Amino acid sequence: MIRPDQHLVLVGMMGVGKTTVARVVGERLDRPVLDTDLVIEARTGRTLREIFADDGESAFRALEAEVLREALASPEPVVIAAAGGVVLGERNRVALRDSGARVVWLCADPATLVERVKSGGHRPLVDEDPAGTLQRMFEQREPLYRDVADAIVLVDHRSVSEVVEAVLR
Ligand code: S3P
Repeated sequence: MIRPDQHLVLVGMMGVGKTTVARVVGERLDRPVLDTDLVIEARTGRTLREIFADDGESAFRALEAEVLREALASPEPVVIAAAGGVVLGERNRVALRDSGARVVWLCADPATLVERVKSGGHRPLVDEDPAGTLQRMFEQREPLYRDVADAIVLVDHRSVSEVVEAVLR
């Protein structure tokens, strides 16, 4: 169970439903929701696609790390939808662990994510060969998600409300 003073962080692959689930969980817990991708876009006034195209992935990752750290430092307990790549940075993984936040990994078979990521304009990394890219990403990141997670919620064949209930449990 999540403590009232503890941040809740959702991690997992792109397309797994972090943004949607975080929104509903935030309503249920009556907490603000911070979505790292949306915070970056609001702060820079640019889309993620523009940031990737103009400044490159490493510039995006630096912004992502900064926004994650700020979210974890929020004085009030929040729900954080952490973008799929946050676990790539070792400092991010340490920050997640050291923050004392409750980290829930939303986990899906990468094959089921292919159709979902196609609609996402903020995902330039899967423009080419989404199925192969997602599979490779999953293989690289699976141990990293496992490393930071306090709990794992399987999302395949589950509705949003079922996933929300599992996260809250
Ligand atoms: C990324 C995931 C995306 C977004 C960017 C890179 C990744 O966020 O930050 O396209 O490397 O997994 P979502 O997980 O919210 O789709």
